[in-house]
Amino acid sequence: MKSELHCVILAAGQGTRMKSRRPKVLQLLAGRPLLQHVLTTAQALQPAGLHVVYGHGGATLPEAFAAQADIQWVEQPQQLGTGHAVAQALPGIPDGATVLVLYGDVPLTPPDTLRALVAAARSQLTLLTVELDRPDGYGRILRDDTGQLRAIIEHKDASAAQRKIREVNTGLMAGSATALRGYVDGLSRDNAQGEYYLTDCVALAVAAGQAVQSVAAACEADVLGVNDRAQLAAVERIYQRRQAAVLMTQGLQLLDPERFDVRGELRVGADCQIDVNCVFEGRVELADDVRIGPNCQLRDVRVGAGTRIAANSVLEQCDIGAACAIGPFARIRPGSLLADAARAGNFVEIKNARIGPGSKINHLSYIGDATLGAGVNIGAGTITCNYDGANKHRTEIGDDAFIGSNSSLIAPVVIGSGATVGAGSTISKPAPAGELTVARGKQVTLRGWQRPRKQKD
Ligand code: UD1
Ligand code: CA
Repeated sequence: MKSELHCVILAAGQGTRMKSRRPKVLQLLAGRPLLQHVLTTAQALQPAGLHVVYGHGGATLPEAFAAQADIQWVEQPQQLGTGHAVAQALPGIPDGATVLVLYGDVPLTPPDTLRALVAAARSQLTLLTVELDRPDGYGRILRDDTGQLRAIIEHKDASAAQRKIREVNTGLMAGSATALRGYVDGLSRDNAQGEYYLTDCVALAVAAGQAVQSVAAACEADVLGVNDRAQLAAVERIYQRRQAAVLMTQGLQLLDPERFDVRGELRVGADCQIDVNCVFEGRVELADDVRIGPNCQLRDVRVGAGTRIAANSVLEQCDIGAACAIGPFARIRPGSLLADAARAGNFVEIKNARIGPGSKINHLSYIGDATLGAGVNIGAGTITCNYDGANKHRTEIGDDAFIGSNSSLIAPVVIGSGATVGAGSTISKPAPAGELTVARGKQVTLRGWQRPRKQKD
């Protein structure tokens, strides 16, 4: 019978080198906390128990993840070392279980690597190791002449000869709960850092006549830890490159995968193209043949087939139909819905508005809290005056209406179907369907009028 799996995520450390007020594992990688990435990986293994050891920052961590009911929080008020951290979680784990130890600051390990580690650990204590060209700072793996694992020596405790060893401990390990309980009870703080090292379990197991084995990580990136801002940025880029690679296998054309960021989830249809420096947040879905120009930001957006979003456009919580033309320099704000073949051009802001099929707002306009029918043409500089200082009101514009440039539509107001509003109008009463409505001062010419002149002293 397979023993049940319990994951223990160590996340009690402060992360001093981040120079941050937040606990390190709350720093964001691709828009989500580091710890969330590790939790998601652990959840992929469907463990019977998910234990997170927290300490520095007090309740900040449990509060940040309050929505996730499957986490068992284990407090380690004083950070006395990785061995001490695991010891805090073990009482909540039944005998016979397999324990997988993960670090809250090692976010990129693929679930398959962990599956291999767990499978091996069903017979004996197993470490995840990796060979590094520059192993400084890591615990080194000590083996005997036959290659059998004997111990881990921490960098600070290692001799010059041991520091030359390139095989290092990633920190991730797995073993039986029963055996681990015995080992952590035997740990001492007799080392350079005065800590209970989890890594000393290896020597204790060997001394007890139990073999310890290792599983090799596929690459360094899979086991990179985040200790400072530079490492966080490096891990971010690796993560983004990996996402870009997956999306390109799905047929996405990225003009430069090095300048592409997804902080959430991006789904793409066939033959989409994304230019440089675009950021996708939340959940973004692009249908077939969507093209996005450089420097665009899209958050929680759906975009229909064949739509073009030109450079420097910002779209948030909106739904864009097929064959639309957005931007350059357009801003589409939450609650907006553009039907097929609609257009929103440069310096156009749309908020909480429904724009009917084929309607055009091509230049310099604010359309907020409005409903536009089909085939409406909004002239340059049109403003829906939706706010009276206390409340928001709606503007309704019927099919095929034409709003002349530089008009103010004072909501609540209704423009009928096929109505024309003369340029420069300030409309505060209904504009009837099919008629021309003009609301502006009449043009007059004062013949013989003289400009004022400067008076001489
Ligand atoms: C640890 C390993 C080292 C390995 C390296 C890989 C030990 C003794 N050393 O060293 O062999 O090469 O990771 O990155 O295990 N933590 C707690 N409570 C504590 C101490 C640490 O929860 O009391 C957490 C930290 O928040 C962190 C993780 O454990 O997530 C690792 O601790 P850290 O102090 O960074 O270990 P290293 O010295 O890097
Ligand atoms: Ca570390």
